[in-house]
Amino acid sequence: MKDEIEVRKPREDELSELVPIYRKVFKKHNIFQGEDNEIKEYLQRKYREEPELGFLVALKNNKIVGGLLLRKVGGDEKHWNIRLNHFAIDEAFRGQGIGTALIDSVDELILDLKGKGKLESAKIETRVSENEKRAIEFFKKFGYETEGESKSHYRKGESAYFLGKEID
Ligand SMILES: CC(C)(COP(=O)(O)OP(=O)(O)OC[C@H]1O[C@@H](n2cnc3c(N)ncnc32)[C@H](O)[C@@H]1OP(=O)(O)O)[C@@H](O)C(=O)NCCC(=O)NCCS
Repeated sequence: MKDEIEVRKPREDELSELVPIYRKVFKKHNIFQGEDNEIKEYLQRKYREEPELGFLVALKNNKIVGGLLLRKVGGDEKHWNIRLNHFAIDEAFRGQGIGTALIDSVDELILDLKGKGKLESAKIETRVSENEKRAIEFFKKFGYETEGESKSHYRKGESAYFLGKEID
């Protein structure tokens, strides 16, 4: 149906639709405040590095309005430590359940990989600036726990919280 929210992996040529969203949401980010082409190349590189995980995008009325990136950063063959990065919803589309649909799809993707025997358990970790109060509360609502604080993490004088969730 037209008004429904759809979450899926993007095609590589759709990554450019994430560029203006990331530029607008991550105003202080070292990569997302660069040239459009540089941002696109960065997204393409990450896309190609992660065939099993990678990007998830949310679409409303067939338009990409948000996304996130999942990368395997540690663990072993059976236990995957997965980093969740670049989670953003276009400001005009917030509060409509799109972030919820995306974060639920993360668990579904991991459980699907588990069902296919690619992994047995997973740990999802993410890092959120102390200034992103809404995002911190959002993750807690979906079972993520605060695991630590890193001082001057992204920028001097600005802490980041490490949030994590285990999936068995
Ligand atoms: C965090 C974020 C992804 C949430 O996306 P969203 O699509 O607005 O989320 P949802 O509509 O699914 O809402 C989920 C919950 O967020 C909270 N929320 C929704 N709208 C809100 C608002 N206007 N003000 C405060 N909290 C709100 C509520 O707790 C809501 O749950 P509820 O509907 O049961 O009340 C989005 O705010 C965002 O892009 N933030 C900026 C980027 C960022 O900080 N990313 C994380 C670090 S990488």
